[in-house]
Amino acid sequence: MEPLVLDSRTRLLVLTGAGVSAESGVPTFRGMNGLWENHPVEAVASPQGFDANPALVWRFYSQRRTGAADVKPNPGHDALVRWEQHLGDRFLLATQNVDGLHTKAGSQRVVDMHGNLFRTKCADCGRVPFADTSVHPSGTVPKCDSCGGRLRPDIVWFGEMLDPNDLARIGEFIQRQDGTRLVFLAAGTSGAVWPAAGIVDEVRAVRGDTWLVNYESAANTERFHHFVQGLSGQVLPTLANLV
Ligand code: APR
Repeated sequence: MEPLVLDSRTRLLVLTGAGVSAESGVPTFRGMNGLWENHPVEAVASPQGFDANPALVWRFYSQRRTGAADVKPNPGHDALVRWEQHLGDRFLLATQNVDGLHTKAGSQRVVDMHGNLFRTKCADCGRVPFADTSVHPSGTVPKCDSCGGRLRPDIVWFGEMLDPNDLARIGEFIQRQDGTRLVFLAAGTSGAVWPAAGIVDEVRAVRGDTWLVNYESAANTERFHHFVQGLSGQVLPTLANLV
């Protein structure tokens, strides 16, 4: 197999999805068959669901916070930390995962495209989102210190827009003109959720090289130059040639 060469003329954009956390034992929405305690996931992960029953939403996210607090990064996360240490500013990690495992592993240049389970924001005022590990499992809704409104998890829910600043950071990395060649690697993502699924085409538009590491074929596999089929925790640690 052709190696993924990470040398001083390379800049690398990585996109991760639920598959990268799977070997750490994090359950995915799809793994839950679209239901949580018999509620459709949209009821606990959408603005409409939050308006209808914010306490239920907090119970769901409290369970996820508690679950994610106990899980540990796996060798796939660790490999990405080593790549970043090698490449420095020529590395960027965009993740669709909200579990915080990349940061826990030691990754620093992380864009949390879908938000972060351990951040909270106000549903009713524009205060800056803040780090928060608190849980509210018993039917209560935490209140905002600034406006008295309802606090909510800082997660991009169904039907919500991604943060334009996050998309700009990814776009600027793709478009950067510093004489380096762009490589894009997607891992553990089904290629079915946008805009993440379209990054491969943005990279191809600037003649970047594209890699997919996934357990099964993704919805957009044919858009990648290289497809390495396997578990990310097994493939990533030996995939790259750091020179
Ligand atoms: N290693 C590599 N790939 C894996 C592994 C593994 N250990 N385990 C599973 N996979 C693959 C699956 O084959 C699947 O193609 O990871 C992919 C996970 O796909 P999804 O569950 O659709 O996850 P993702 O692409 O991250 O979903 C995007 O959708 O559920 C919403 O907002 C949520 O961020 C999520 C978004």
